[in-house]
Amino acid sequence: MLNPDTIEKCLYTKKIARQLIVFKSTSSTNNIAWEYSSNNSNDGLAIFAEHQRCGRGRRGNSWLDSDEKSLLFSILLCQNKIQPELLTLLAGVAVAETLSNFAINHVRLKWPNDIIVNGKKIAGILTEYKKGNIVIGIGVNCHQTTSDFEPEIEKIATSIDIQRNQRCDRNVIAAEILNNIEKWLEIAKNNRDRVLQKWQSYSSLLGTRIGLLYNKEKYYGNCIGIDPEKGLILQLENGGVRMFEANLSSIIKD
Ligand code: BTN
Repeated sequence: MLNPDTIEKCLYTKKIARQLIVFKSTSSTNNIAWEYSSNNSNDGLAIFAEHQRCGRGRRGNSWLDSDEKSLLFSILLCQNKIQPELLTLLAGVAVAETLSNFAINHVRLKWPNDIIVNGKKIAGILTEYKKGNIVIGIGVNCHQTTSDFEPEIEKIATSIDIQRNQRCDRNVIAAEILNNIEKWLEIAKNNRDRVLQKWQSYSSLLGTRIGLLYNKEKYYGNCIGIDPEKGLILQLENGGVRMFEANLSSIIKD
């Protein structure tokens, strides 16, 4: 079970998750984090849940979970100075780095925020921003077996336990993701390029041909750049260079 004391024992952060709440069940941890956002003293607050009744994914999708099998949590950043798009990439780097450190091989990042292992999604990130405040929501599949996923999801999803063939400790992994988020937040303050370089080291997009669904239209081209503000930069097959902002895009072929 998730246990705030066990997570705290493994934390070496100054700000992130120094306030930490674990819910048995909630609507969405992002929603709860937003309820605390009017008070700046809640900066760094982390909200965890064992189950979400209305878990949200990107682009209006739902994020489904089986009770007590995932890490489902949100971090509130008040009056944040770092660009939200960079924060999404940064959170992806922190999750990818943590999973790699826990002996998961071939962790990749799929733009902008999917964490992929051996071609299957293991984690996702939903970053929301309002009035200078940010909520970073992270969902990681941990104890699922293939039969825990719906048939149509099973082909495209995986979990830490499936990849490692042994049961992981969610408290330890949660703490390590939080530690890595704070580490990368510190780095991003002075060196945004290091975040981008690290992100690119987990991605195979640059220089490859990809297809993109953007605003319900399909585009194909060569990826010539990734920029947190401008999004994905494609040299289009039918001529021209175009930028695609992250929150309206999803990759259909890479
Ligand atoms: C995606 O890949 O579409 C993003 C999924 C994000 C899911 C997490 S689970 C914790 C937090 N609360 C939510 O409702 N969503 C995020």
